[in-house]
Amino acid sequence: MCGIVAYVGDKQAAPILIKGLKRLEYRGYDSAGIAILDKEKNIKTYKKAGKVAALEAMLEGADAEGNIGIGHTRWATHGEPNDVNAHPHFGQNKTLSLVHNGIIENYASIKVQLQMRGHVFESQTDTEVLIHLIEEIYLNEKVAFDEAVRLALNQVHGAYAIVVISKLDPEMIVAARKGSPLVVGIGVNEFFMASDASPIIEYTKSVVYLNDSEMAIIQNRTLSIKTIANENKTAFVQELDLQLEMIEKGGYEHFMLKEIYEQPRSIFDSMRGRIDSKTGHIHMGGLHEHQHKLMNAKRIIIVACGTSWHAGLVAEYLFEDFARIPVEVEYASEFRYRDPVIFHDDIVIAISQSGETADTLAAIELAKSKGATVLGVCNVVGSSIPRATHSGAYTHAGPEIGVASTKAFTAQVTVLAEMALWVGFKKGAISQSQLNTYLYELEQIPSKVEKALLCNDIVKQIAAVYKDARNFLYLGRGYNFPVALEGALKLKEISYIHAEGYPAAEMKHGPIALIDAEMPVVIIATQNSQYDKVLSNIQEVKARKGKIISVVTEGDIEVEKLSDYVIEVPDTLEPFMPLVSTIPLQLLSYHIAVMRGCNVDQPRNLAKSVTVE
Ligand code: G6P
Repeated sequence: MCGIVAYVGDKQAAPILIKGLKRLEYRGYDSAGIAILDKEKNIKTYKKAGKVAALEAMLEGADAEGNIGIGHTRWATHGEPNDVNAHPHFGQNKTLSLVHNGIIENYASIKVQLQMRGHVFESQTDTEVLIHLIEEIYLNEKVAFDEAVRLALNQVHGAYAIVVISKLDPEMIVAARKGSPLVVGIGVNEFFMASDASPIIEYTKSVVYLNDSEMAIIQNRTLSIKTIANENKTAFVQELDLQLEMIEKGGYEHFMLKEIYEQPRSIFDSMRGRIDSKTGHIHMGGLHEHQHKLMNAKRIIIVACGTSWHAGLVAEYLFEDFARIPVEVEYASEFRYRDPVIFHDDIVIAISQSGETADTLAAIELAKSKGATVLGVCNVVGSSIPRATHSGAYTHAGPEIGVASTKAFTAQVTVLAEMALWVGFKKGAISQSQLNTYLYELEQIPSKVEKALLCNDIVKQIAAVYKDARNFLYLGRGYNFPVALEGALKLKEISYIHAEGYPAAEMKHGPIALIDAEMPVVIIATQNSQYDKVLSNIQEVKARKGKIISVVTEGDIEVEKLSDYVIEVPDTLEPFMPLVSTIPLQLLSYHIAVMRGCNVDQPRNLAKSVTVE
C-alpha cells in the first residue's frame, strides 16, 4: 500500500506528480503530499490529509515550481492519517526529503537511539525515523548522498520502496526497494519513478523494474543501479505494453463499472493464443518446463488472499475435476505463519492480481525454501510474484484500478481452468474429445458474459429495493459456492453492508438462524448437478420468510416460482459457471454502493495492493 512517484527532468515536476498520484490512489488515499526541489535548492513540501484532490486544491496558487520532486499517497500504518503524518518527511536538518511505501519494522529502536542523539520527531511514522537516519549518516559521515541511503538501509528491517531528494545534491535522486515495488521510467533527458507504471506511461514506455534490494541512482540525468550490498548492476530496460486508455475511465462513472463491462474482452485476452477448439490444442507456455512435475503431482497447494483466494477455491474444483489432483487452498497469511507440511513434489500455485501482496510473496518464499515448485497466476506484468515464482501464467486482464476486484477474478478463473485442462489432458485424466468440448465452451464464455451483463437493469431495480438492508446472505453449492463468497465480499467491500457467503447446504448449521423477513438472501441456483438440492435450500429460506434473490439459468421456471427476484444468466458447462454467475453479483454490489453514496473505486480502509503483512 501507499503509492510513490518521483520526477527529474526539464518539465515542471508538480503537475506530473499530482497526475501520477491520482493514478496511484488505488494504493491508499488517507493523505497525499509532494516535495519539490527548486532552482534555489529549497525543498518545498505540501501535504494534506485526505485524497489527492485535497492536495491539488492546496497547490492552487502555491509556489510549487521546480524540476525535481517526489510524491506520495498514503495508506496509514504507523500514525493516524493527518497532515503531519503525511509524506514526504524531512530529516532533522531538513536537508533530505523522502517518500516511503512499506514498513520499517525496527523503527522504534532506531528512533530511541536518534532521540538520544538529539533528534526530534514531528510525526508518529516509521518513515520519518528512516529519513532522520539517512540524513544523519549523510551529514555526519560526509559520504555521498547515495552512499548514505545505502548505509542506512543496511541498518533497517522491513519492507520499503523509497525515493529521496537532497538540497545539497540537486542533481541526484536516490531510490531503493525491498518488498515493495518500484519502477523507473526512462524518458529523453528525464526520469520517472513510481510504484507501478501507470504514472509513467504517458511520458515513456521504457522502464526498469527494480529488483528486491536494489537502488536506482539518477545523477546528472544518468541512471545507475546497484544493490544495497554495493554491487553494481546493469539496468534491464523493458518496453511497456500498456496504453493510456487502459488506465482511464473511458466514459464510465467508475473504474469498477468499466472493469465489470470489460470482462468479455479480458476473459478473451486471458485465453488468447492458449486455446483453440478447432485444433483441440491447448498451450500454456509457462507450464511446459514443469510438465513432468505437474503430471505427477500428488498435491497442489494454492495460496492467495482476498478475491484471489476465491479464485483459488474455484480452481480447487477445476483441478480436481479435470486433472484428478487433490488441492488445498490456503490463505497466504495463515500458510506462511505456521509450519506447513510441504513436499518436494508439491506444486504451489500463488494467485495475485497485483503480484505484490506481501503475505502471498512470503508464502511463495516459504514454499520455495521447502523445495516445492511454485507457479504464479498474476495480472500485473513484471510485478514481484511472477519474478519470485518458478514459472506461471499471466491473466492479461489489463490494469485493474477499482479496489474491488472484478475482471481480475474472472481472468484468474479462466487461466486456472486452462491450467487444469492442460494438466488433465497431459496426464490423460481427460480425453481429446472431452478437451475439445471444454475448449469450445471456454471460447463461448466472452459472449455469454456479454449476455449476462444484460441483467444490469433488473439488478439495478433489486439494488434499489435492498440498498438499506443491514445484512445479506449469499448461498451457492459446488462451483457456485466460491461465487457466493465472492459476491458477499464485493458487497462488504464497497457498500459496507454486512454480508456472508455460505455453502447453501451449510446454511442449516448456523446462518439459518439469521433469516427473517428483513434478510435478503442471494442464491446462485443455476442448472447444475446440485440444482435440486439448491431448490430445497430455497424452500428452507422461504419457509422462514427470507427475501429470495436468485441467479438462475435463462429459461428457469422452478426457482422463479419461489423467488422474490430472479436474475437470468446464460447456461454453460458447470465448471465454467462461476465466470457467468459472478457477473450479476458484481453489478448488485456496484449499484447498491452507488445508491448508498459510497466511494465505489476507493472504499474506506481498503487498498488494492497490500504490501504490508
Ligand atoms: C486487497 C484487495 C483485494 C484483493 C486482495 C489480494 O485486499 O483490496 O481486492 O483481492 O488484496 O490482492 P492480490 O493483488 O494478491 O490479488
